[in-house]
Amino acid sequence: MPDEIETLREEMEATSIENEEEAEAFRIKFLGRNQGAIPALFDQIEDLPPEERPEFGRRVNALKEQAQEQLDTARARLEREQQAGAADIDLTLPGRRDFQGSTHPLTQTMEQILRILRGLGFTTYEGPEIETDWHNFTALNFPPDHPARDMQDTFFLDAASEDEEPPVLRTHTSPGQIRIMQENTPPIRVAVPGRVYRNEAISYKSFCLFHQVELLYVDEGVTMAQLKQVLYSLARALFGDDVTLRFRPSYFPFTEPSAEVDVWWEDDEGEDGGQWMEILGCGMVHPNVFDSVDVDPERYTGYAVGMGVERMAMLRHGIDDIRVFYENDVRFLDQF
Ligand code: DAH
Repeated sequence: MPDEIETLREEMEATSIENEEEAEAFRIKFLGRNQGAIPALFDQIEDLPPEERPEFGRRVNALKEQAQEQLDTARARLEREQQAGAADIDLTLPGRRDFQGSTHPLTQTMEQILRILRGLGFTTYEGPEIETDWHNFTALNFPPDHPARDMQDTFFLDAASEDEEPPVLRTHTSPGQIRIMQENTPPIRVAVPGRVYRNEAISYKSFCLFHQVELLYVDEGVTMAQLKQVLYSLARALFGDDVTLRFRPSYFPFTEPSAEVDVWWEDDEGEDGGQWMEILGCGMVHPNVFDSVDVDPERYTGYAVGMGVERMAMLRHGIDDIRVFYENDVRFLDQF
């Protein structure tokens, strides 16, 4: 005879509970106070002969306990699964950083220099990085085979033919002066920013490539006093109003007289400690240079300046090794 309790037990055991809706459906179907199958069995007790009632009641009770256990176990399992799923998101992890690019510190310094110069009336001109020997040396009054050419270790490129001079990677921005004066007539007031190259041993203070900004001002009656005034304006804007400059007599083939300019750099400790740091070369344009570009040296005078951008950036940011500008280490670049 089919046993109603056993049939129900089989049906119950075959019922899977995979989510909270199924758990609730199970509870209503088997244990629900109103229509539930197991409470309905209890109602049948009254119809049984008295001697069968205890045994029937004990078995229905056992079935009810089994149903409750099946439901509790399933619900506990569902909860565990839900927590395990949530554990895929680790709320203790630091947020993902949004990496943002920034302008290279050399570019920043270069742009600042040019911005200040624009305010002082200088336009900008960019010459080629591959130069003729003539623009880089000869027109700037470096005589052929003169030891002055050794001042700058040069990268020579292959010549186009045996009759021609090999081109050079420009060793300074001064050939920009020549190109500007070839293409324009005075008055000329221009800044030439750009990369320059030198075949030098690489160290903390020199690299095979670096940046310069050249200044050229040519007009009637240009004086060295004007040169000093412009350099003071530039230095104050770059380093602060209390900057101290020192002009030292020097030699460059393309200027006469020539000077090098140092800035007084206080030690971090302040007090009396500090040192002079060279920041640029300058001077009055040599008459031979005017001759090479057909500018009349009897009528015009001019001043020229060449400054190292790396040196300026190193001073401004307290950097003591030029090579860091070219390593592209994000930990360095990130600071600017
Ligand atoms: N061209 C020089 C150099 O690279 C720097 C320089 C010195 C430029 C004096 C000038 C100048 O215009 O007047 O070493």
